[in-house]
Amino acid sequence: MTNRYESIQRELQASPVKWLVTGCAGFIGSNLLETLLKLNQTVVGLDNFATGYQRNLDEVRDSVSAEQWARFTFIEGDIRELADCQRAVEGVDYVLHQAALGSVPRSLVDPITTNAVNISGFLNMLVAARDAKVKNFVYAASSSTYGDHPALPKLEENIGNPLSPYAVTKYVNELYANVFARSYGFRSVGLRYFNVFGKRQDPDGAYAAVIPKWTAAMILNEDVKVNGDGETSRDFCFVDNAVQANLLAAVASDEARDQVYNVAFGGRTTLNQLFDYLAKTLGQQGVRYEKKPVYGDFRPGDVRHSQANIGKAEKLLGYSPAYDILRGLEVAMPWYVKFLR
Ligand SMILES: NC(=O)c1ccc[n+]([C@@H]2O[C@H](COP(=O)([O-])OP(=O)(O)OC[C@H]3O[C@@H](n4cnc5c(N)ncnc54)[C@H](O)[C@@H]3O)[C@@H](O)[C@H]2O)c1
Repeated sequence: MTNRYESIQRELQASPVKWLVTGCAGFIGSNLLETLLKLNQTVVGLDNFATGYQRNLDEVRDSVSAEQWARFTFIEGDIRELADCQRAVEGVDYVLHQAALGSVPRSLVDPITTNAVNISGFLNMLVAARDAKVKNFVYAASSSTYGDHPALPKLEENIGNPLSPYAVTKYVNELYANVFARSYGFRSVGLRYFNVFGKRQDPDGAYAAVIPKWTAAMILNEDVKVNGDGETSRDFCFVDNAVQANLLAAVASDEARDQVYNVAFGGRTTLNQLFDYLAKTLGQQGVRYEKKPVYGDFRPGDVRHSQANIGKAEKLLGYSPAYDILRGLEVAMPWYVKFLR
């Protein structure tokens, strides 16, 4: 039996459509771009390189055929500029809106810029996509919206108070998307990503996510710093699962739209376990790391535990994540070893 993801990939290949991927030079955006081009889709990309890189686009170019790459148009622009958004959505069927400033700590240091990009930029994209009458608008929401709600695993309808400016912005995205459905009949789907990881996730800088940061430290034989006691847990989601969710969401039925979905694997891994998994999967790549982790203070704004219930996405979107954390790390680690050595 073929699953829903396999069948929609076949349908898209048979009848290609036009997509806009915002944030296409970033981690998740460039993985979306690669998958869509490999399915012979026409893709417009919008990015201002705030946290994305030309090298990510170059890598996608090198992974597809010349004919597939010719179906890609890149617009260097800023979602804070309505005109850039309007230009990007012209003639587009599906929008996958990924552009935003990620990172809880970044938002604590500079809430104004995070707000401008993640809220005003999001609103610009909604207005532009509504006016261009795109068929569907899929956007990156976040598990940070669960905030201080204690229940585990997380169910979409039960959220708490946001714990950071970043979490506020991602929740406001959901509110705007709902209001656009009510007020203008503009349909969308929000995907609450839980700690996505995989190739091209940036290991550099103060705001790097834990997996690329620790992976780089292990490859370069530097200290791995743990915020807190290491028993903080997350539902780490391999990027191919997130790509799958985006494509399923884009072609979702009417009943499945105007809603948000958890996008995760549905497991829970502590940071101490993650340390062991990374050492093990890097060991398979010939990287020996023998230092012990260095424990420090808990980080402000971080939630203690996170795990998704993915039942809603399974039921309404046909989501079926193929990679658990270990399988995902096994695919991602060779890329990091090549990139960092
Ligand atoms: N990676 C995760 O674990 C995770 C978890 C929850 C939500 N998200 C969300 O997923 C989306 C993608 O995240 P990512 O991990 O790929 O991050 P990323 O930083 O690698 O990608 C974001 C991209 O958006 C671009 N961008 C930023 N500001 C822009 C602007 N003003 N105009 C145009 N482009 C702009 C950046 O240059 C970058 O290429 C974001 O919306 C993020 O909030 C990610």
